[in-house]
Amino acid sequence: MDYRVAVLPGDGIGPEVVQEGLKVLRAVGERFGHTFATTEGLIGGIAIDATGTALPDATLALCHDSHAVLLGAVGGPKWDDPNAKVRPEQGLLGIRKALGLFANLRPVTVHPLLLPSSPLKAERLEGVDLVVVRELTGGIYFGEKRREHDQHGEWASDLCLYTQAEVERIVRVAAKLAQGRRGKLTLVDKANVLETSRLWRSITTRLVQEEFPDLRFDVMLVDACAMHLIRRPADFDVIVTENMFGDILTDEASMLAGSMGMLPSASLGAEMSSKAARIGLYEPIHGSAPDIAGQGKANPLATILSVAMMLRHSLGLEQESRSVETAVQATLEGGIVTGDIARPDQVAATTAQVGDAVAARV
Ligand code: IPM
Ligand code: MG
Repeated sequence: MDYRVAVLPGDGIGPEVVQEGLKVLRAVGERFGHTFATTEGLIGGIAIDATGTALPDATLALCHDSHAVLLGAVGGPKWDDPNAKVRPEQGLLGIRKALGLFANLRPVTVHPLLLPSSPLKAERLEGVDLVVVRELTGGIYFGEKRREHDQHGEWASDLCLYTQAEVERIVRVAAKLAQGRRGKLTLVDKANVLETSRLWRSITTRLVQEEFPDLRFDVMLVDACAMHLIRRPADFDVIVTENMFGDILTDEASMLAGSMGMLPSASLGAEMSSKAARIGLYEPIHGSAPDIAGQGKANPLATILSVAMMLRHSLGLEQESRSVETAVQATLEGGIVTGDIARPDQVAATTAQVGDAVAARV
């Protein structure tokens, strides 16, 4: 079968890491006899410069016509004015919303060889294997925003709103995922303060009881979760949470893996009725890292592992996905790593050398 993949390199190190992801994708195509038709589109700052908007219609049309989207990163100092009318981040938020990608999967595992790269003690990290399922198209990110001034001065507000249907669909994704893993689901909220969190808690508790009684289910306040992710990270299996809590907790969780440059993500929409495959957007969780852009220093593994997630979740190619993950392991074991995860006794490889090494091992 032929697969159509939209490729949105974006800004900063985005194009460099995406290039390595595509290298690995081509290697998978050759090894397993698939054709991946890739087409590039504009998003983020580079799209603002070329078209005046962070998410041109042509990009959206390209994505709608594809089985999956591979994205690098958006943003940079050139477009950094937070008061500007057009901002690179609008491209990212816009594409998530437009494609209905409400489920953001962010797996966190720790490779034994990378234990010394983490700021945490090695014994805390043994057995860490968790997934944060972040709600991606609702909540405070997308609620009404206001900025006004009255006789007392300025004021601003961001509305956080969730509907029952939005909560149910993301909880079902997380619960199914937990069933295929260690069978543990943790809802993270702030139900002691927020009404939206109380809604999440009552809906999730009832839904899990009725539809997933086999799961071990618990609830945790987000501040406590921030602590327990450091104190006992190996106890987590699947965490489900709202948009902003998921954003914050996953940057924290990336430190368990030693580097932001190691963590992939998948953003999924509803299952297509006929098959398990879904359109999805795949991107590293790191940003555009303008300070190291163009220097061959960026770690491409988060993007390459995002390609593995794309093969699994949108293209239904499980064996191919595993071959990429195994090739990444073998590359780490071969000591071919970028500076962010190199030990003092290792020479740092370039972005392209790491990509070559993984492609050769697929
Ligand atoms: C992420 C990023 C984005 C988010 C930014 C760039 C808008 O931090 O994907 O985690 O907050 O969702
Ligand atoms: Mg973030």
